[in-house]
Amino acid sequence: MLESSLEFLRCVRCCSKLELIVFKSEREILEGMLECKKCNSKYPIIEKIPIMWDNFSKYLSLRKKLGGQIYGLIENSTLKQFCKISLSNVKKIDDDRTDLEERWSKIYQNSKSSKFYSHMKKSIDFVKKSNLVLEYGCSIGIMTSFLAQSHDMVFGIDRSFTALRIAKKLYKNNLDYVVADFLSPVFGKSKFDLVLALNVLELVEPLKLLNYISKQIDTGHFIITDPYDFDRGINSVKNPLNEKSLRTNLEKFGFKIASKTKSPSHITWELKLNPRAKLNYDVDLIICKK
Ligand SMILES: C[S@@+](CC[C@H](N)C(=O)[O-])C[C@H]1O[C@@H](n2cnc3c(N)ncnc32)[C@H](O)[C@@H]1O
Ligand SMILES: [Zn+2]
Repeated sequence: MLESSLEFLRCVRCCSKLELIVFKSEREILEGMLECKKCNSKYPIIEKIPIMWDNFSKYLSLRKKLGGQIYGLIENSTLKQFCKISLSNVKKIDDDRTDLEERWSKIYQNSKSSKFYSHMKKSIDFVKKSNLVLEYGCSIGIMTSFLAQSHDMVFGIDRSFTALRIAKKLYKNNLDYVVADFLSPVFGKSKFDLVLALNVLELVEPLKLLNYISKQIDTGHFIITDPYDFDRGINSVKNPLNEKSLRTNLEKFGFKIASKTKSPSHITWELKLNPRAKLNYDVDLIICKK
């Protein structure tokens, strides 16, 4: 975590500013703790990544295998103890997301050269140099790292520690990543000049996310893509959107849609699942602004 990121991060429980304790640092913080003096919440920084979950045990409850791996990686004794206690409070849940998140991180690494990303890079290039940029669901940071080439400060948020560990391999003094839930107030009342949310609407209630993002932008651009692949069995969102209702809702939230994206588009997003299998999505792109 960059030391400068402290200015932007807030306690996800009470929204207060945080205090930073550094255990190990080089050009950025490798191990540390973010503490909220108001509600006593603690957020560990492990492998350069702040894990801003309201309860670290809860985060690890769905990722027990990752918990063991993280414990092995930590060097500082205070942080190791914190991890040990958190692991001992882990609830018994059968589902473990570790393998799934590892698998998807590999898929994104193998799919970096998908035309979708070059198309998106070209589509975003027109946005003038912004002060503050946020990408929701940044995964391994394909677009986030690109954005950091031309904007002042760029953040990526994702719940996958595994994906962010890969993203964090690239150091830039204006690029940082946070493990957090999309709908948690991890950036407090900060306003962003540019927000990206690519292919995430199936994983969070879409209207809640749009409402949340609309409050984070006073003046600026919002760029969103989606394949509208909402049929996910018991994990399906309650209120899916489509080409039309996404545009209508963005307008309701005060966004003006760029004329070139008023009509639905069909951009190919190819994901290489393994050497013999590919997933081909047909993605719609909307560029809008306030
Ligand atoms: C389908 S992937 C899209 C990745 C990337 N935006 C792209 O288009 O290549 C969705 C990403 O969002 C993250 N994610 C899903 N729901 C989330 C949530 N509620 N909070 C934080 N991250 C979430 C996942 O871990 C995953 O990396
Ligand atoms: Zn707090």
